[in-house]
Amino acid sequence: MPLPKQDYVSDIWKDGIFENKVVFCTGGAGSICSAQVRALVHLGANACIVGRNVEKTENMAKDIATARQGAKVLGIGAIDVRNVESLQNAVEQCVQELGGIDYVIAGAAGNFLAPISQLSTNAFKSVMDIDVLGSYNTLKATLPHLITSASSHKNPHIHPSRANTGGRIIFISATIHYTTMPLQTHVSVAKAGVDALSHSTAIEFGPRGITSNVIAPGPIAGTEGMERLARKEGSDQVKTRVPLGRYGTVKEIADATVFLFGDTGNFVSGQTLVVDGAAWRTQSAN
Ligand code: HXC
Repeated sequence: MPLPKQDYVSDIWKDGIFENKVVFCTGGAGSICSAQVRALVHLGANACIVGRNVEKTENMAKDIATARQGAKVLGIGAIDVRNVESLQNAVEQCVQELGGIDYVIAGAAGNFLAPISQLSTNAFKSVMDIDVLGSYNTLKATLPHLITSASSHKNPHIHPSRANTGGRIIFISATIHYTTMPLQTHVSVAKAGVDALSHSTAIEFGPRGITSNVIAPGPIAGTEGMERLARKEGSDQVKTRVPLGRYGTVKEIADATVFLFGDTGNFVSGQTLVVDGAAWRTQSAN
């Protein structure tokens, strides 16, 4: 029995708005991306999540499928976003089994805390490859399907109670590169690249009806990134830096996702939606 809607996403969104839509998500077993996909599935979409860890990805897919009766959620493991061929195979499987791809979430990321002095060339490259090259590979592998989806959604208001949208991509970034952060140089450089990729995509593929945006989560409770930061700085210390005085929730990232993929996001492209309670504006590099 699916959990109540308010557990996944705000009540303001209509049930079924994403009926017949398909979302493809990298890093889909992670805490933020799984919440995004779960909300879309709850609101009618089917989904394909991919990840490196087979068991984690397959189990998460099964779990997400419980968000709505009749939902189809594929979990494809052993997919490394650094390898475009393996991504293309997953995309092909998704299209064959679910009928296409309307939305993409490029969420796979690599992160660890380390000063520049202790970063090997390969350590720096690993994060660049997962975040920047991986996001590029995700775009490259899904683009033909995003273009097809966008071109079939040119006529607005066909289904008044459903999102008449398709051909949309969201890249998951961060805010640390706005000011930089100690021990996160490699990630800052990588996330700046992810932002640039999204903005370029918006310009180059806007004429084909594609929208491309970045969601930049701040300190979000229960995520891997947050746990690492809190371990380093102390949980209360991080919270005092958030003007809204609390951590965000994965549900708040899910709401931002629904906003961008739904009709509410029709004219929003080339943007970064920062969901951080104004935290980065208080951030300093020291
Ligand atoms: C220094 C390190 C290191 C560390 C790994 N390396 N951990 N160097 N300090 N703590 C080095 C290794 O020694 C190696 O270099 C190189 O990095 C590659 O390591 P591998 O383990 O071989 O690579 P791989 O298996 O591909 O793992 C990639 C990874 C790993 C990025 C290193 O951490 C990972 O897979 N992470 C994925 C999950 C993840 O981090 N998710 C969190 C996303 S949260 P040498 O020279 O020895 O070969 C997020 C939030 C951002 O992104 C915002 C936060 C504020």
